[in-house]
Amino acid sequence: ESSSTEEFRPLYHFTPETGWMNDPNGLIYLDGEYHLFYQHYPDATVWGPMHWGHAVSTDLVNWESLPIALYPDSLGYIFSGSAVLDTENSSGLGTTENPPMVAIFTYHNAEEANTSSDTFQYQALAFSLDKGRTWEKYDGNPVLPNPGIRDFRDPKVSQITNPDGSKSWIMTLAVLDHINFYSSPDLKNWTLQSEFGETIGAHGGVWECPDLLPFKTPSGEDKWVLLVSINPGGPQKGSATQYFIGDFENGQFTPDDTMLRWLDYGPDNYAGVTWSNLPSDQNRTLFIGWMSNWLYANEVPTKAWRSAMTVPRELSLFDVDGTLLLKSAPAKELEKLRADDYKISGGNSTLPSEAVEITAGVTDNTFTITLSNELEETVVISKENGLVSIDRRNAGKADFNAEFAAMHSAPMSWEAKEIRIFLDASSIELFVNDGELAMTSVLFPTSPWKTLTISENLKSLKIYNLKK
Ligand code: FRU
Repeated sequence: ESSSTEEFRPLYHFTPETGWMNDPNGLIYLDGEYHLFYQHYPDATVWGPMHWGHAVSTDLVNWESLPIALYPDSLGYIFSGSAVLDTENSSGLGTTENPPMVAIFTYHNAEEANTSSDTFQYQALAFSLDKGRTWEKYDGNPVLPNPGIRDFRDPKVSQITNPDGSKSWIMTLAVLDHINFYSSPDLKNWTLQSEFGETIGAHGGVWECPDLLPFKTPSGEDKWVLLVSINPGGPQKGSATQYFIGDFENGQFTPDDTMLRWLDYGPDNYAGVTWSNLPSDQNRTLFIGWMSNWLYANEVPTKAWRSAMTVPRELSLFDVDGTLLLKSAPAKELEKLRADDYKISGGNSTLPSEAVEITAGVTDNTFTITLSNELEETVVISKENGLVSIDRRNAGKADFNAEFAAMHSAPMSWEAKEIRIFLDASSIELFVNDGELAMTSVLFPTSPWKTLTISENLKSLKIYNLKK
């Protein structure tokens, strides 16, 4: 088993069959299918010339891998981006009877990047008229040339209804240390509306993979959330996703305050974005992230493939003593994975498999859960003195990178009442109060976790064996 090329392959998290994967791209729902495109290098398990890999799912847990959607060409590698359904055929790339699925992505011209030029990243279109199965690149690419800034990428396009009822396409683009907002009537011609962020937020690294999302607050107000991934400069070193809450009007984002907020306080949830074109009766904002960190992503000890996505999550706003924060709850589809459940009274219990969900109530705002194996490797998940932590200092293989074995903690000033933990062969996702605080961590135990030990402050513990 331990020499198998499949060691550490998760059961219910998406992984590429072979080769390298990073960011989720082009997340779009159409006719019962959730599409997941992703940054992909099929020829090795390290980052290389980027393609868009492709998979679809009807339930967000069973994924069918499809052929590569976009290959690099003379304009460059295919970097991150988004996809929309152009229902009214504003782009003219399809028809109103068969509206085009349009991908908006960054070309990264690797040859030009090796010169003194700063204009090697630019935005382009591709379209599909057969539900994402085959793609054609737009012959007028690029649609947004580079104005002379080295980092100019990761377009996230959404359609916005203006106060007068008309609709515009808005592109949210990461530009070195800030965000540019562009608008377009047809996805082809883009006009700069505003810039945001140079003097606010975390700036320990370059800004990447933004997303702009409308929400209702718990009191029914309209607010916008701007997700911005940053690398390095995250709270646990390396990559992480910050967000801002505010208003978006006339192509301009105005934050409510200058508070630093992080979507996930673990080390391994990066470049996450949300699905477009969800049917309105779903009434949710559905997110997935890349479950790794550029600190060590190219070195983790998997063999046939590298990296998994997080579980899909539903984002919403909640309020802590007058401060709005973003909650990431596991998508409800994950409950379908529960095969059989049993309760245990406390103390020690044996895990039924490598794919498990653990739920428990917390008393006294404090808890400790320890997972261990027969090799005395452990991972400790806790809340103590207002800090939620995942300690992977002794959690198995770690010699591939000096930064990996670490204890990661996050402040949680409000009360922890319940926890949900998703374990898969090489990851832990902790959701406190259904995602009011989330921490995601990858782990490589030399032998699977066997034993669960809990502290007395945890009640109604349940362990669910997860099966597809
Ligand atoms: C984020 C990122 C993006 C870029 C892509 C390249 O992880 O650096 O900014 O488009 O990865 O693979």
